[in-house]
Amino acid sequence: MSDNVARRSRDNFLTFGAPLIGESEIEEIIATMKSGWLGTGPKVARFEHDFAVYKGAEFVAALNSCTAALHLSILAAGIKPGDEVITTPLTFCATVNAIIHAGGFPVLADIDPKTMNIDPVEVARKITPRTRAILPVHFAGRPCEMDALLLLAGKHGLKIIEDCAHAIETEYHGRKAGTLGDFGCFSFYVTKNVITGEGGMVLAKREEDIARIKILGLHGMSKDAWKRFSDEGYKHYFVVECGFKYNMMDLQAAIGIHQLERVESNWKRRAQIWEHYNNAFADLPIALPLEPEKKTRHAYHLYTILVDEQRTGIDRDAFLDNMTRNKIGVGVHYLSIPEHPYYQKAFSWKPEDYPHAMQTGRQTVSLPLSARLSEDDIDDVVEAVTKVLNS
Ligand SMILES: Cc1ncc(COP(=O)(O)O)c(C=O)c1O
Repeated sequence: MSDNVARRSRDNFLTFGAPLIGESEIEEIIATMKSGWLGTGPKVARFEHDFAVYKGAEFVAALNSCTAALHLSILAAGIKPGDEVITTPLTFCATVNAIIHAGGFPVLADIDPKTMNIDPVEVARKITPRTRAILPVHFAGRPCEMDALLLLAGKHGLKIIEDCAHAIETEYHGRKAGTLGDFGCFSFYVTKNVITGEGGMVLAKREEDIARIKILGLHGMSKDAWKRFSDEGYKHYFVVECGFKYNMMDLQAAIGIHQLERVESNWKRRAQIWEHYNNAFADLPIALPLEPEKKTRHAYHLYTILVDEQRTGIDRDAFLDNMTRNKIGVGVHYLSIPEHPYYQKAFSWKPEDYPHAMQTGRQTVSLPLSARLSEDDIDDVVEAVTKVLNS
């Protein structure tokens, strides 16, 4: 990364979250196309195996999204209509929608504004006799305070479903994200740290939960129904539940297998970019992400700054527009859940009732952090941020 940031202007737009794709993914896709077996098959089985080894988990199921993983985990957790599930207001809508689709009643507990993760003190305040589960999101790849959440879950007999969409590489006190709770749900969406285009994975503590998730993820058909057209000969299947069409395809797993091989080298690259941004932005009037906590591992999924108009003289949305004008793609993770009309109408939620999530959601900007970024791209991001704040 060059020290001289005042160089040239970019000629192409830097897409936020564009993934690093290697030749091996491309070759595997071509081989899969030529094999004639595009749907769920041996490549999905291999990706599940490799992911289980990476996470040190025994029971895993690949699905077509993290949303599907969350939905089926909540069902497998035994959530019944009206059961309350506590989650964070600073998350992607899919987290809350999955609770609703599974028949649960979502309850929000505000974040700790420093970590941007759900605050266990707020969770404790929201527990009622109807609470059945906690759904923490390891925001940006920083682990939640799992000791406190596990303690609450133990005391009140609650399930924990970890939303690990940002947290593939995350660790907490020597344990890997997704293996601390009863379920861990991962996303391989195009902007994530490991991608399959669309895709997801569930880890479960109990074998019977993963068995049920596999059945629910393929129409409710009995075990290994995807093998019905294989060289083992036609197999009858039986529908044992009313399931969903949530299975991952071999075409997706073909990408994931090779992405996973590079998960650690990509993580190191993002850690470098993160450090570079920290140094480059140290004197600017913006809040930078909190340093990772001791005895934890941050996944470095999102580099989020806070643009507070009182300090910068520019409001967050104008900052976003200016970055775009400078050809740098940016993201917002997230406007707090109660800002959206649907939830206001359905649950009477108001943003002001979750003040920390509201303030973060109104000030936050995510900068490009993909392992794909070149040295010039990184310099361009630094230059644009500096220029926009000084304009
Ligand atoms: C925190 C969080 N949860 C859930 C999801 C849903 O993931 P997917 O797109 O794989 O369904 C996302 C995706 O952006 C996310 O960021």
